[in-house]
Amino acid sequence: MKNKFAGKFIVLDGPDGCGKTTQSELLTKWLENSGVKTASFRDPGGTAVGEQIRQILLNPEHAAMSERAELLLYMAARAQLWKEKISPALEMGKCVVLDRWLSSTCAYQGYAGGLGIENVIKLATDCLERVWPDLTIVLDIDLDVSARRLSSTPDRMEQKGKTYHAKVRDGFLKLARGRENFTIVNVSGSIEAVGEKVIETVNKKF
Ligand code: TMP
Repeated sequence: MKNKFAGKFIVLDGPDGCGKTTQSELLTKWLENSGVKTASFRDPGGTAVGEQIRQILLNPEHAAMSERAELLLYMAARAQLWKEKISPALEMGKCVVLDRWLSSTCAYQGYAGGLGIENVIKLATDCLERVWPDLTIVLDIDLDVSARRLSSTPDRMEQKGKTYHAKVRDGFLKLARGRENFTIVNVSGSIEAVGEKVIETVNKKF
């Protein structure tokens, strides 16, 4: 059990309000309870530099931010997170659980933002030492359900509107369907039921 997860890089991703933060926490707890040394981070964030970049990205006062500036800031936060946290953790043999990763940039800036999924991946190949995790679980959610889960004070990304967020969901599905090491998990059902599906997916993969 311990060995099969050592050095594995697992990402939970999906549209805003899909429950990936809760599911990342549940997965991390399950791994730790199973004796697996685990490290978990959020992207963007997880480092001093990354948390500052996150604040710039999500601040509603920055409505003038261009799609390209947005793309580069997400990539910069990720490059820092890899160097400072993910890479050392994987080298120590830990299992790393990430709340979002490049899949988000593909769905948000690439597909919904119109920059192109393949262009985003090309940039990532130049910017990141490692592009893809061992497994990405995309949590798929009905748009009306996810809209109800959003906070009453939406951040700059949440303010982008319904059409944008519908495209984000399509972008995730398009990416996940065409790529190796991606699994889509539908999140209709209780938190516990989704948690079991996530654990089953992870167990089957490794
Ligand atoms: P979070 O609060 O779900 O962690 O994510 C912050 C916001 O940033 C969320 O609206 C999704 C968005 N995002 C992107 O647009 N591109 C990215 O590459 C990442 C990682 C997040």
